Amino acid sequence: MRRCDELGAISDERGRLTRTFASPAMRRANKLVGAWMREAGLQVREDAAFNLLGRWNSAQPGAKTFLLGSHLDTVRDAGKFDGPLGVLTAIAAVKTLRERGVKLPFNLEIVGFSDEEGVHYQTAYLGSRAFAGTLTAADLARIKEKQIVKTKRNRNEFLGYAEVHIEQGPVLEKNNLPVGVVTAIAGQSRLRMEFHGIAGHAGTVPMNLRHDALAGAAELVLAAENCGVTATVGKLEVESGASNVIPGRVSLTLDVRDQKDARRHAAIKALQTKAQTIAKRRGLKLIWQLVQQTAGVHCDKTLTQIFSKSIAQCGLEVMKLPSGAGHDAAALSAICPVAMLFIRCKGGISHNPAESVKAGDVRVAIEVLADFVQTLAKENS
Ligand code: GLV
Ligand code: MN
Ligand code: MN
Repeated sequence: MRRCDELGAISDERGRLTRTFASPAMRRANKLVGAWMREAGLQVREDAAFNLLGRWNSAQPGAKTFLLGSHLDTVRDAGKFDGPLGVLTAIAAVKTLRERGVKLPFNLEIVGFSDEEGVHYQTAYLGSRAFAGTLTAADLARIKEKQIVKTKRNRNEFLGYAEVHIEQGPVLEKNNLPVGVVTAIAGQSRLRMEFHGIAGHAGTVPMNLRHDALAGAAELVLAAENCGVTATVGKLEVESGASNVIPGRVSLTLDVRDQKDARRHAAIKALQTKAQTIAKRRGLKLIWQLVQQTAGVHCDKTLTQIFSKSIAQCGLEVMKLPSGAGHDAAALSAICPVAMLFIRCKGGISHNPAESVKAGDVRVAIEVLADFVQTLAKENS
């Protein structure tokens, strides 16, 4: 918890926590977490995508590698647990295992991914997709740091990936449980759109002769709210942005999620048709751009079962729940089986500085994760 506080103070912005891909704060965060990894006996390096890697090599020749981790980037004005908690609990679990003198038949590698939130380029999972080797030409065209493709790892090396994360929802709290196992991760689409109208004088242009880009965008925001799946307009930019000018141009981001990919696709199609209708009626030009989409992912049955056993071992009821949020595990599922453990958080609040977890729950998560790795070791030796 002290480490979460310390890491939470490393920010690109004064007075609030914002740490985005490849930023100066991220470089400082990697240095600090790297030192904690070293202290836990790990060999530390940073890859070409600024992912931080801490490795515990098995004594067994030709051993494969099991991955633990989460992300070290944050949203704007973030809480201090979304991401970092998964990396720090992994380091703590390694420390526990080493103190127990556990020998592993596989290498264990902890990864602090450099970009899960996608604040910098509006595309999620840059760090983990670079690692998995699934970046597309379109991704690379968008970003400055072309060297990140070099990060791609050999998928044959990996046995699996496990991620601890705050739940970011209220289910565990409602059920009075410190941890739970994740069954699936919702798919997500990120889009960007623009309405182009005609800027004009706020006092002279009659109301019925306007082509107000913001009024059109506002209709779309409300349509998104009622599109039948989880949808959010998180960013709106209005030009020229003066109180006495009719908005001539507006850009919006749209984030759409659902456990069912087909339902998400259908909702986006319906919203696009709606946006076209709005634009036509108001005499606006519409630009509609799909920035990124990630399919929903099922967690691996075997790994999930081991998590369940470890939770039961701690004397706790095993609760299974899906994730509405995206996670690096979704990106890693392209190259290996994945599993996730959720930690209860206060009020289900996240992406907010009020994010909060209990030390006792974190202790349980570390114990469960250590037991998970130990069981995995037994089953693989
Ligand atoms: C990450 O937190 C996401 O789900 O957007
Ligand atoms: Mn996260
Ligand atoms: Mn997040």
